[in-house]
Amino acid sequence: GFWAVVPAGGAGTRLWPLSRETCPKFLLDLTLRGRSLIQATWDRLLPMAGQARMMVVTGEIHSQAVRDQLPDLLPRNLLAEPSPKESGAAIGLAAAVLCRRDPDAIIGSFAADHMISGEDAFLSAVAEAVETARHNHLVTIGIAPSYPAVGFGYIRLGDKLDIPNAPNARVVSQFKEKPDARTAASYLSTGNYRWNGGMFVVKAKFLMELYHKYQPELAEGLEAIAAQWDDEKLREKALAEIWPTLPKIAIDNAVAEPAAQEGMVAVVPATFGWDDVGDFSSLADLLPAEVNQPRILGDSKWVVTEQSAGGIIVPASERLIACLGVDDLVVVDTPDALLITTRARSQEVKRLVKKCRETG
Ligand code: GDD
Ligand code: MG
Repeated sequence: GFWAVVPAGGAGTRLWPLSRETCPKFLLDLTLRGRSLIQATWDRLLPMAGQARMMVVTGEIHSQAVRDQLPDLLPRNLLAEPSPKESGAAIGLAAAVLCRRDPDAIIGSFAADHMISGEDAFLSAVAEAVETARHNHLVTIGIAPSYPAVGFGYIRLGDKLDIPNAPNARVVSQFKEKPDARTAASYLSTGNYRWNGGMFVVKAKFLMELYHKYQPELAEGLEAIAAQWDDEKLREKALAEIWPTLPKIAIDNAVAEPAAQEGMVAVVPATFGWDDVGDFSSLADLLPAEVNQPRILGDSKWVVTEQSAGGIIVPASERLIACLGVDDLVVVDTPDALLITTRARSQEVKRLVKKCRETG
């Protein structure tokens, strides 16, 4: 059966001080529609997988928050990791556990912190990906790139695959995770590349074969943990002993890159809207705007502006923010930290956060 797997980790530091270690991006409601990113992810996947086959992999420190936000998630389908080991271990753990529960499991892994619009187009792309995955491919969803981003994986489109019910599926002739700016620009100029949308559809068994092939140490560690998963005591023991020794690596580097070299990765091009909400500037683009006004994320009664267009303002409540004559500004207020920057530099917040940490 089809299992929706949602790895929920990562700090989302470019959205600091809104996102924090204790409250990462996926727990935030960035659209003001009343649902956090992981809740919206849940809503989107539920019709496809059904409640019994919805799985979340998250850090122990976030598992209570995830339980609170997703009350319908079955307790046995919430996998908690002792420490962050990146997406390679997170998705691999789900695959190893699922191989034992459901030998025919097909995994659809979807980031907990992306925004997607066009539900029907999304569902039909995933349906094509599932058909393609049945033929022993690791299947990704390809997003049409709009700028030479350095924060994404790139997919070079190869030949069309000939798979029934998946007319748009193609083989990936190369997968390159996070190229430098020059390489990214050269990829864009060929017109033959797509962004990896951070989604993987694959048979759980086949994924474990790929892990064994390219990351044997990780594969063996994950399987040893999965073997003890259903007994709480044994599980805790295995996690305590094995988890800290696992390599920390993203699934993209661990598996997608090498598997693409052997023609085992496929891509279904996306026709739906996709955004990874990487920084405040891209968040601003997603919020409704009024002419000559900044975007406001929060209660607008706390914001007063004059001649300050194009930016984004996030009020903490109970404190007025007033702006005069400042365009394209990012102002993010929280009880204990205030960020002021420009939209153009919002990618660099990550670096600033590092500096804040060093300064204490
Ligand atoms: N449980 C768990 N534990 N989940 C994690 C961890 C971890 O330690 N680290 C990352 N994740 C989750 C994130 O929450 C996200 O859902 C997914 O794994 C991808 O990890 P990111 O850290 O967000 O990866 P990225 O943004 O650098 O790159 C990936 O996504 C891009 C699209 O946004 C790659 O797949 C790129 O190729 C892709 O373009
Ligand atoms: Mg990401």
